[in-house]
Amino acid sequence: MAYTLAQFCTDGRAILKAEPLPNALARIAERLGRLLSNPAFVAETFSDDMPPGRRVLYRDAETGFHVLAHVQEGNKAGKPHSHGSSWAIYGNAREYTDMVEWRRTNPDNEEHAVLQAVSRYRLGPGETKAYGPGVIHSTAHPKKAWVIRVTGTDLDALPRYRFGKEDRLLEKT
Ligand SMILES: [Fe+2]
Repeated sequence: MAYTLAQFCTDGRAILKAEPLPNALARIAERLGRLLSNPAFVAETFSDDMPPGRRVLYRDAETGFHVLAHVQEGNKAGKPHSHGSSWAIYGNAREYTDMVEWRRTNPDNEEHAVLQAVSRYRLGPGETKAYGPGVIHSTAHPKKAWVIRVTGTDLDALPRYRFGKEDRLLEKT
């Protein structure tokens, strides 16, 4: 039977309460993949005429996790960032996200960050990936994409760590 948003949310809460965070994130990422593979979920969440932006699909009152639907405009790339003390899981419903994970190579107390790319990969439809607290990543969407993001908390209420123009990005050799 097709895996629904309601089942995903119920499972997410149960997993977060039962498992240490790294295990929980891996299991929720696997379930997000199942949800994204349900065409009925994709059809009821997104439509071709939806403008770029995001909507909150679900907030869990007990554990605080959020499920968000993003319509990502094509031909756009984001800056490296982490979600501070929160985690995030990304998954695509249509088209793809080009991801880069970064590592800071200089001490945190220096004003500007020096970031080195440690991995690059593409998340296509039905593919998901979890990012634990503090993991620095950046996303690019060469084409308009439909993305589901699950976050540990309301990220708008948390300090977010964005890396700006003055920061140095080192390419992996
Ligand atoms: Fe992010």
